[in-house]
Amino acid sequence: EFCFAQDQIVTSQSAHLHPMDIGLIRGYGIFDFFRTSNYTPLFLSDYLDRFIRSAEKTHLSLKFSKLELEAIIRELIDKNDLSDGGIRMLLTGGVSDNHFSPTNGSLFIFNEALDFPSTEKYEKGIKLLPIEHVRYIADIKTTNYAFPVWHSNIWKKEGAEDVLYHLNGQVSESSRSNIFIIKDGEIATPDQHILHGITRKRVIELAPEVKIRPVSFEELIHAEEAFITSTTKKILPVTKLGDRKIGSGKVGTKTLQLIDSFAKMEQ
Ligand code: PDD
Repeated sequence: EFCFAQDQIVTSQSAHLHPMDIGLIRGYGIFDFFRTSNYTPLFLSDYLDRFIRSAEKTHLSLKFSKLELEAIIRELIDKNDLSDGGIRMLLTGGVSDNHFSPTNGSLFIFNEALDFPSTEKYEKGIKLLPIEHVRYIADIKTTNYAFPVWHSNIWKKEGAEDVLYHLNGQVSESSRSNIFIIKDGEIATPDQHILHGITRKRVIELAPEVKIRPVSFEELIHAEEAFITSTTKKILPVTKLGDRKIGSGKVGTKTLQLIDSFAKMEQ
């Protein structure tokens, strides 16, 4: 298997990272993650724009243009004969004398097997465990997920699929996905303190009536339907928030319709 490391395509075993990279020492780096379907990278332009934006906002220099990154990705898909899978792009903060200043980081692009949630989760919906928290520099796709990784012990014990971040009565997102609620026919999704997900963007295109506005914790509790969106989960229904049921506790019709239209969009 091949991956892109620093500035060339190499065998995955020969890729390496300096142990003093602040990606490791300080958890300072950015990434993005997209899927391929039948050898085609899905919504690649959006993911590349976000990756480039994350690098800029993090003051990391990316040596390659959007077109060059696209060419590297296509070559990698070809070399690895990757029909359906995930591709991760990672840019580290780099090695610096004071262990604190971003320098020229290392770029890695490699593929990963995809592991979608089970059919049962799409049919019955999942549980989110609410926690008072907000991600800082939320719109940058940083590699720092120390808080949710640490906290995952707790939500796993509670039988939850993930967490739901809320603070001061306002909902933001889950640890690796965005959230939507449906009430009285209105679909709404928050815009503040979130990573602007590409799957979220597709849902907004599928349902242009979606209201992009603050969503309160109260509204989520009283919603008829709710779902989370991400590259690795697509549209996943949420039927429980902690011990409370959302709506009837069953997957709602509007959510099912969106799951259906999203599947068609991907073909
Ligand atoms: N997570 N919010 C956060 C904090 C995320 O990490 C992600 C993606 C999303 C959804 O974005 P998108 O629809 O573009 O995947 C929202 C990836 C999949 C991950 O870390 O595994």
